[in-house]
Amino acid sequence: MTKHTPLVVGNWKMNPESVESALAIYRAVRKEIDAVSGVDVVLCPSFVHLPAINTERGRSKKVQLGAQNAFSLPSGSFTGEVSVPMLKEVGVSHVLLGHSERRTMGEHDELIAQKVVFALKADLDVVLCVGERERDEDGRYLEWLENQITASLEGVSGKYLGQLTIAYEPIWAIGAKEAMESTAIHEMVVFIRRTLARAFSSKYAERPRIIYGGSVNSHNIEDIMENGEVDGVLPGRASREPQQFGTIVTTVKKVLAKR
Ligand code: PGA
Repeated sequence: MTKHTPLVVGNWKMNPESVESALAIYRAVRKEIDAVSGVDVVLCPSFVHLPAINTERGRSKKVQLGAQNAFSLPSGSFTGEVSVPMLKEVGVSHVLLGHSERRTMGEHDELIAQKVVFALKADLDVVLCVGERERDEDGRYLEWLENQITASLEGVSGKYLGQLTIAYEPIWAIGAKEAMESTAIHEMVVFIRRTLARAFSSKYAERPRIIYGGSVNSHNIEDIMENGEVDGVLPGRASREPQQFGTIVTTVKKVLAKR
């Protein structure tokens, strides 16, 4: 099994309301994770808060910056969209694509795949979010998920897979009371790796990191990392609470160091 650098991605979604608050969260997170090394820590604030946080970072890349979306072309008549070159100019190194909240607003696999291809070629790290809305007893959701993954990666060349992370986020566990059970997360990691091996050669299929998202917090992180066998996590709510986020990063580091 390939050993990956652990990854923790904080998705701030459409929060907080002001740039002052965004900077305050960033500073507090930075303090919390100061002593931790060997974990890739990425924060994904709103587009408009990226420049201020990037300036605040100075030369420190302890916290890497991610965007919550990016368009599939470099420039042009696409009202309301933000392009990869624009994002790179403000220090962005990662991008979340295909988040279920965007898919619900109408983004489909074909567009997501175009965005993934463009971002990877432009040298960004892509965190592709996938996950089923609900589960059926016959396991048809597995076939559905396999299709979603392969369609969202249509046109991606295997040589870019080192820049790719798959974030498994079952929609029913996002914004919920509890995360998915850790042993069930492990089953999905195996399933996703198998799906990648079917879509790409085995040489490439080992390269993407596979992380979990959906109600991750400072209480369940140890169990998710110990028994879920993931390479990291994608917290939403907990990523805006610096202490919780700090505990998540520290725990990810601790558990993966033992593997
Ligand atoms: P949550 O969000 O941690 O608040 O459930 C996760 C996500 O939507 O990425």
